[in-house]
Amino acid sequence: MCGIVAYIGQEQAFPIVLKGLKRLEYRGYDSAGIALLENGEIKNYKRQGKVAELESFTDNQDTEGTVGIGHTRWATHGLPNDINAHPHTSGNGDIALIHNGIIENYDILKEGLLSRGHKFESETDTEVLVHLIQDIKDHEKVSTAEAVRLALNNVIGAYAIVVLSKDNPDQLIAARKSSPLVVGIGKKGDYYLASDATPIVEYTNEVVYLEDEEIAIVERNKGLRLYNIQNQEKTPYIQELELQLEALEKGGYEHFMLKEIHEQPHSIQDCFRGRLNVDTGWVGLGGIKDYEKQLASANRIIMVACGTSWHAALVGEYLFEDLARVPVEVEYASEFRYRNPIIDEGDIVIAISQSGETADTLAALELAKSKGATILGICNVVGSSISRITHAGSYTHAGPEIGVASTKAFTAQVTVLTLMALAIARNKGSLNEAKFRRIITELELIPEKVSKILESSDYIEELSKEYKDASNALYLGRGNSFPVALEGALKLKEISYIHAEGYPAAEMKHGPIALIDEEMPVFVIATKGTSYEKVVSNIQEVKARKGKVVAIVTEGDTQVKGMADHVIEIPNTDEHLSPLLTTIPFQLISYYIAVMRGCNVDQPRNLAKSVTVE
Ligand code: G6P
Repeated sequence: MCGIVAYIGQEQAFPIVLKGLKRLEYRGYDSAGIALLENGEIKNYKRQGKVAELESFTDNQDTEGTVGIGHTRWATHGLPNDINAHPHTSGNGDIALIHNGIIENYDILKEGLLSRGHKFESETDTEVLVHLIQDIKDHEKVSTAEAVRLALNNVIGAYAIVVLSKDNPDQLIAARKSSPLVVGIGKKGDYYLASDATPIVEYTNEVVYLEDEEIAIVERNKGLRLYNIQNQEKTPYIQELELQLEALEKGGYEHFMLKEIHEQPHSIQDCFRGRLNVDTGWVGLGGIKDYEKQLASANRIIMVACGTSWHAALVGEYLFEDLARVPVEVEYASEFRYRNPIIDEGDIVIAISQSGETADTLAALELAKSKGATILGICNVVGSSISRITHAGSYTHAGPEIGVASTKAFTAQVTVLTLMALAIARNKGSLNEAKFRRIITELELIPEKVSKILESSDYIEELSKEYKDASNALYLGRGNSFPVALEGALKLKEISYIHAEGYPAAEMKHGPIALIDEEMPVFVIATKGTSYEKVVSNIQEVKARKGKVVAIVTEGDTQVKGMADHVIEIPNTDEHLSPLLTTIPFQLISYYIAVMRGCNVDQPRNLAKSVTVE
């Protein structure tokens, strides 16, 4: 949710910041802007729309300068136009600021500033903050860095900011609370600041992740200094990045989403690498090893997440309950945090989050921690906020996911949840040896079965043509296929803007059946398993109302073939693992339909990948 990037050093800042913004564009693409400081003047270029608009706008402009800050916006306060675009400057133009987050008390602060003669151009909360900094600087006669610190002490809300000030062209001031910020330490005394490490990795692998309420001051020739908001100096903890640059490129695919769908055989394998040994019959997750016993004897596990990660949690609920016999509740993080939940010290709260930065998930965890619960995380982004505040956790190792619609992160989350459920089951003795062995043997085969499904991409593309003009779609599944139906519907609506709903197949009779006619595609998961016959009946109910049925079936199925308009055959697997396979055709269908409808697959309208505001 908004990407920020900044550079100070010996090189020209503009191309570095611009490239960084392109890498961060998945965080928001309502507008983009860059401010540069050169010869005592701040040049501020901003444009509504994507970074490419800003690039053409600045084509023939003076973009000289060795210090610069840039921003790509996902609008919260104010329309996505040129004026509301960041960077924002103080009234006299001496200070420029970029911001990711929300200043919740901006209206009260603005009133005070208005009464002291400040005039505002934009409708943003960010402009209020930069004016506040200038106001404090002028009235208290302090340095910009001190004014930033004092201003932040008056702010309620979330922020990651970088400040550029005319009076100190050799300095950038950065701070964070709840929104992420990373400092990259360059090799030639130069510094990079960004919302995540993706704009930094091609220059350095030495980074410092700022903690909440920390202020970083980076100065040419003087280095990095770190303070808390009370002004006590801290020692920066320098970490080494493991991110590879190639992982951030499209690698020959037309879209990141398609690349990420096709990466799944590898990402699933990377996820269980070193965590599974079929020969010796062993499963283990190093990160939560010390918590296995506690998980096995937990009275209750609560999983909190948002979006696609919430669907992974629902799959996790089936796995944990069925295999490990531990009661699980799955909660939307945004609901959980505001409804005074009952949390005991014996509860374990597991957050699932691709980015590890989702504001609601983070807040839900903090709440659970404050009530004494053990908090664990399942995150993809290494070093993310959730991974740092949890007692322990497991990374999904899916590699960077750039497409806004989540694909490989989902299957990696489900893989980690499967491993966790199996490890707990083993610890608890809730699963007999034969069943345990069967599941892990099947789990190891999942990557090649995913590859096999991906080989049917052309067929799936072909059948998708028939449904590209639909206005509505229904996704049905039972048991652990129900969350996959929800995820299928979410994918379709996210990127193709077709209204779609996921339902437990049996619930169709209680409402959605009223919508079915010959225009309505119904995507059904009808693989072999406990509810197969029941789902077959549900397909018949749809056909009786002339609905179009696309069914995902197990290889060799003949029964559904005779009824459905299209079937997509997938390899057989253990029922517990079927979400790892059934979700793949749905990802492909949404992808192809979105492409055929001319939608921007990687950057769907109004969405952002990392939602760092509530
Ligand atoms: C946004 C993204 C989704 C994602 C959700 C949760 O809505 O567009 O793809 O599932 O946030 O994000 P997280 O990083 O916590 O998994």
